[in-house]
Amino acid sequence: MTLARIDDIQMAYTDTGIGRPVVLIHGYPFNRTLWNEQVAALSTSYRVIAPDLRGFGESDASDGAATMNRLAQDVSLLLDHLGITRATIGGLSMGGYVALAFYKQFPSRVRALILADTRAQADTEEAKQTRAQHAEKALTEGMAGIADIMLPKLLTPETVSKRPEVVKRVRDMMLKTKPEGAAGALRGMAEREDQTDLLPKISVPTLILAGAEDAITPVADSEKMHRAIAGSRLVVLENAGHVSNLERTEQFNQALLDFQKELPH
Ligand code: MLT
Repeated sequence: MTLARIDDIQMAYTDTGIGRPVVLIHGYPFNRTLWNEQVAALSTSYRVIAPDLRGFGESDASDGAATMNRLAQDVSLLLDHLGITRATIGGLSMGGYVALAFYKQFPSRVRALILADTRAQADTEEAKQTRAQHAEKALTEGMAGIADIMLPKLLTPETVSKRPEVVKRVRDMMLKTKPEGAAGALRGMAEREDQTDLLPKISVPTLILAGAEDAITPVADSEKMHRAIAGSRLVVLENAGHVSNLERTEQFNQALLDFQKELPH
């Protein structure tokens, strides 16, 4: 494991491969191992950086809400630490919220964007209330209850019934998450700003990926981003839910590799 001092925390990250850098930002409540297969596929041609966000995996948690802006600042500080000025910035779900917040704050650092199973809109009032309940539940009961609630929404019914190894992988990541890290991110996601107005201003190549059966960020959200971001590419992965990189790994990786290969130098 590699650690860097980032602001007030120790941040763990993977940094492997040589070439134009690609940053992969995991979703909630996961960690950088979400990206193992993508790191393996991309690092033969690119330098791939996958951080554990503040409060997740082997990174320290901190008090209060882990806002998307703060998480994006952490990624920017990590790039400073690694001597990287500009990179493809990719994220899945909450990682996509962070990628959009990163673009908003540091547009000149973004060579290209990858937005997987995510959305630009802020939370509804109802979603904010659910986040507050889940934060409380995580802090008082631990992550098992959260994992039980989330699992059926994260994966397709077919994956749940036929691919126990994927179910175990997703559940184990959730169980390993620190309750205070989960609570901080839930509060941060509830506070996040609506980035819909940012979309037409995005002027870098953008790849949007969506599981056709995503129950958390439905394909309609990805279609909206695709319509608003000029020149963006939308890839819908059949038979995949919210964690589409684990459910359709080969197709997901191929889309990333094609996109990266076609980027202007
Ligand atoms: C995620 O996968 O990062 C979260 O489910 C996103 C969310 O809850 O909005």
